[in-house]
Amino acid sequence: PTIHVITPTYSRPVQKAELTRLANTFLHVPNLHWILVEDSQRRTPLVSHLLRDTGLNYTHLNVETPRNYKLRGDTRDPRIPRGTMQRNLALRWLRETFGPNGTQPGIVYFGDDDNTYSLELFEEMRSTRKVSVWPVAFVGGLRYESPKVNAAGKVYGWKTVFDPHRPFAIDMAGFAVNLRLILFKPQAYFKLRGVKGGYQESSLLRELVTLNDLEPKAANCTKILVWHTRTEKPVLVNEGKKGFTDPNVEI
Ligand code: UGA
Ligand code: MN
Repeated sequence: PTIHVITPTYSRPVQKAELTRLANTFLHVPNLHWILVEDSQRRTPLVSHLLRDTGLNYTHLNVETPRNYKLRGDTRDPRIPRGTMQRNLALRWLRETFGPNGTQPGIVYFGDDDNTYSLELFEEMRSTRKVSVWPVAFVGGLRYESPKVNAAGKVYGWKTVFDPHRPFAIDMAGFAVNLRLILFKPQAYFKLRGVKGGYQESSLLRELVTLNDLEPKAANCTKILVWHTRTEKPVLVNEGKKGFTDPNVEI
């Protein structure tokens, strides 16, 4: 099957560095299709050129998260989670491209642009029948969070400190979905509104599967194959108000 990796991304000083590192990882993965969705009004030249030059199989989309959403939104929960509109656009693209009865074998994975992915992770997810799951390092204030797996190899809960009673207490990087399931459940999207912190993943997964359907990977969830790394924001104070370096040089 083709692995469709959905990556939301936005413009900032480290964007090209993040996408370069990600592309270098993906170049080692056979049969990968990168769906890169820019959080912007239009597709930028920086990202367009980067994608073109990687030689990867890709689709380049864009949708801007409304910047002033905070002012207009529900005051109880004003924030649209980062990357959500972009991931939903990619889900729609998959459905429009492959159709409701699509038979192309595929796997869908949400890969944020700043995480660290082992190559083994992609081989593990390739055999996903419905939804596969595995641990993610550096989330929820722990070395790693993990699905709980019993002796029979069934997922029965979540080894997390932060709200383990969530329907799916798992980070975005901790699961993959079979493309057939995405096409078969065309109403399943990430919820944009009224989603408490940590519930974004559940809002999609509960539309697709129950706990009983989950397929543990990474040696019954005993191996760490993905790290929720976050890149330090570079300090650019010496640029000053007008900028010191040549603005025509792309970083
Ligand atoms: C955590 C989760 O791991 C994310 O999957 C989740 O979307 C996010 O929280 C959230 O709910 O806000 P975190 O490291 O805090 O991740 O978030 P980022 O890595 O900053 O953003 C997640 C993805 O969205 C990245 O690929 C990033 O490039 C993208 N993003 C972020 C945008 O497209 N637009 C933004 O304004 C910010
Ligand atoms: Mn991140």
